[in-house]
Amino acid sequence: MRTVVLLLIMGIVDLSIGQRYSQFHWLSHLRARRQHAGWQAEDVDCPLECDCPSTFPTAMYCHSRNLQHVPYVPSHIKYVYLQRNQITGIQDGVFNNATNLVWVVLFHNQLNSDKIGKNVFSKLKNLDRLLLDHNELTRVPPNLPKSITDLRLGHNKISKILPNSFEGMADLTTLQLQANLIEDIGGVFKGLKSLTMLDMRKNKLRKIPDNLPERLHQLYLEFNNIESVPAGFLTMYPKLQFFRLAHNKLTDKGLPSGVFNISTLVELDLSFNKLEKIPVVSRNLENLYLQANKIKEFSLSSFCSTIDMTNFSKLRMLRLDANEISARDIPAEAAYCLRRVAFIDV
Ligand SMILES: *[C@@H]1O[C@H](CO)[C@@H](O)[C@H](O)[C@H]1NC(C)=O
Ligand SMILES: *[C@@H]1O[C@H](CO)[C@@H](O)[C@H](O)[C@H]1NC(C)=O
Ligand SMILES: *[C@@H]1O[C@H](CO)[C@@H](O)[C@H](O)[C@H]1NC(C)=O
Repeated sequence: MRTVVLLLIMGIVDLSIGQRYSQFHWLSHLRARRQHAGWQAEDVDCPLECDCPSTFPTAMYCHSRNLQHVPYVPSHIKYVYLQRNQITGIQDGVFNNATNLVWVVLFHNQLNSDKIGKNVFSKLKNLDRLLLDHNELTRVPPNLPKSITDLRLGHNKISKILPNSFEGMADLTTLQLQANLIEDIGGVFKGLKSLTMLDMRKNKLRKIPDNLPERLHQLYLEFNNIESVPAGFLTMYPKLQFFRLAHNKLTDKGLPSGVFNISTLVELDLSFNKLEKIPVVSRNLENLYLQANKIKEFSLSSFCSTIDMTNFSKLRMLRLDANEISARDIPAEAAYCLRRVAFIDV
């Protein structure tokens, strides 16, 4: 009998956690009063909808509880977790007292650009991470703090980016814009001095963005409609090591000669395109993905211009499967040049 009652109480508690919190405002007041009376010594200023564990006093956990609004964030909070709710908007002022916020986690909600206040984030001078992926945003939120280093906007509905969207964000190192509807990005990346990772997979780009940051280390452009790589493109980005262009519309015509023969590149993914030849790559390249193209011949000169005992390719991974060549097309000398490749997938 006791167990049954307990289960019932637990059921009610559980139900209330799963319900809309706005209906329980009176409980919030009650709780505040209790705090005042010192009923719970450990309890700190924390909205009823959330948990603020005493073991991690600067964090506020409000994820996965069907919230429709961002609750008030107390001033001592630095990390706020609001992911996996049904939040559609953020009204100006919610974060006004929480100027120490360092992380704001809001992925997997239903955020709509029209319901986000103009200055929601602008006062958060210490904001480091803003995670807004998997929402319904059609625009980059305006007035983002310049302190952000990690900005995630992937899996939204952004089609156009205003030229000043990322202005002055000199500390931004990671920018995720994958799975949006971007066709043309213009020069919005200018001035992102610290950006090392740009993810623009699954958009509608028809060309490689211009004016990319000089420090860029990883550039992910898979699943777009890119047909060509500009001549000398990689010489402009000497820090670029990982370049992924799989699932685009690249043809041999779109690749100027030697465009990938750049000694700084470590990984090049050109799989699922329409290439008929193996492009010339540097001996320093380590991973080359060329599967699912229309490659008809194996040209060893693409990897080693001369073949000698001391000079060979550093390639470890070479994928050529789902092309129009077979193992018989690979000449015996390949063993000298490609001596680090364990096996060639054809
Ligand atoms: C912000 O803090 C002040 C002073 O502690 C308080 O009076 C006010 O209600 C807080 N603002 C919000 C939005 O809760
Ligand atoms: C690739 O670049 C290297 C170094 O700049 C150069 O020596 C080599 O001839 C180039 N390979 C081809 C096939 O153009
Ligand atoms: C190996 O090739 C590089 C670049 O192609 C060249 O600079 C170097 O002199 C070559 N080394 C030897 C030992 O042939």
